[in-house]
Amino acid sequence: MARQVFFDTTGGPEVLHLQEVPTRALGASEARIRVDAIGVNRADAMFRAGRYFYPPELPSTLGYEAAGVVEAIGPDVTEVAVGDSVAVLPAFKLTDHGTYGDHVVLPAASLVPRAADSDPVTAAATWMAYVSAYGALVEGDPVAKGDHVLLTAASGGVGLAAIQVANSIGAVPIATTRTPAKKQRLLDAGAAHVIVTSEEDLVTRVREITDGRGVTTAMDPVGGPGIVDVIGTVAPGGRLLAYGILDPRNDLAQGLPKVPGIDLGLYTLFPVTYDPERRRKAIEFVEAGLADGTFTPVVDSTFDFVDFAGAANHMESGAQFGKIVLTVRH
Ligand SMILES: NC(=O)c1ccc[n+]([C@@H]2O[C@H](COP(=O)([O-])OP(=O)(O)OC[C@H]3O[C@@H](n4cnc5c(N)ncnc54)[C@H](OP(=O)(O)O)[C@@H]3O)[C@@H](O)[C@H]2O)c1
Repeated sequence: MARQVFFDTTGGPEVLHLQEVPTRALGASEARIRVDAIGVNRADAMFRAGRYFYPPELPSTLGYEAAGVVEAIGPDVTEVAVGDSVAVLPAFKLTDHGTYGDHVVLPAASLVPRAADSDPVTAAATWMAYVSAYGALVEGDPVAKGDHVLLTAASGGVGLAAIQVANSIGAVPIATTRTPAKKQRLLDAGAAHVIVTSEEDLVTRVREITDGRGVTTAMDPVGGPGIVDVIGTVAPGGRLLAYGILDPRNDLAQGLPKVPGIDLGLYTLFPVTYDPERRRKAIEFVEAGLADGTFTPVVDSTFDFVDFAGAANHMESGAQFGKIVLTVRH
């Protein structure tokens, strides 16, 4: 038997409940993982609330991120072996798989091997955030050395990873927060400049920092009416990658505004994680940064697995600085 988190109706953290389920037979390309840590992701919250970019099929489990040990593999699995320590870099839909359990079945193609003595909490907090930043800033149309990059809501997992990724390629990360108390923490985390949007005008400050030019790339997970100001920070010929909808007033289904001379697009990491070659290069990039200490994942807090609702409430509070992680005791 396994314990997994399910919800039968969409809503707040209170709709989540723990359920004992029989461990199911593995598909040919699947692996069963004994889960030691689960990365709590904003996507989990949005999926549970029915606000994600595809709806849940109820009853549903949830979760994109985890770290653990492989317990069993299907006959076609070559990526990992039984006993391997792994982390999850998701190449699946939440309607098909979820990581919120003490034992879960996932596509083997979603697993990243890790050292047996590595910390599962850090591993669960690493992959989605860093590969999101890599796909946006490094792959394809990379940010150049010296370019200014705007990272809004930068105290989340992706924002903090993007600060480190931007620094690693010689770009200049400008971070934003609504919360004055997070300013020094963002500077300590590597931001070259921090704009507190509750106190300062975003466009004016970015123009000052960039000598009037604007940023060449903006990564924005907020959207909503504030997107207009974010667009205003982008230099002609630059781009805005909209990768989330933290502002509940969002309706990305209506599309992004069109602005001549600025490339505005929706961004997700999944084209990278689903493509074996792009995925391999992303993992190589992140592993190199982890190995030489360039990348140090920031964990905000850990909660016991059974307190999944407490962790979800903490996520909703917006008080976090880095990743929230559930730890599983066996
Ligand atoms: N497209 C992709 O591939 C991809 C991949 C991963 C994550 N995401 C999305 O990226 C977003 C951020 O996720 P995350 O895990 O990095 O961060 P997070 O933990 O969800 O939140 C980061 C920070 O955002 C700020 N924030 C919260 N609500 C806000 C709002 N309404 N307006 C402005 N700022 C707000 C808060 O900091 P302050 O104190 O500064 O307010 C919070 O600490 C989520 O929407 C997630 O679904 C997308």
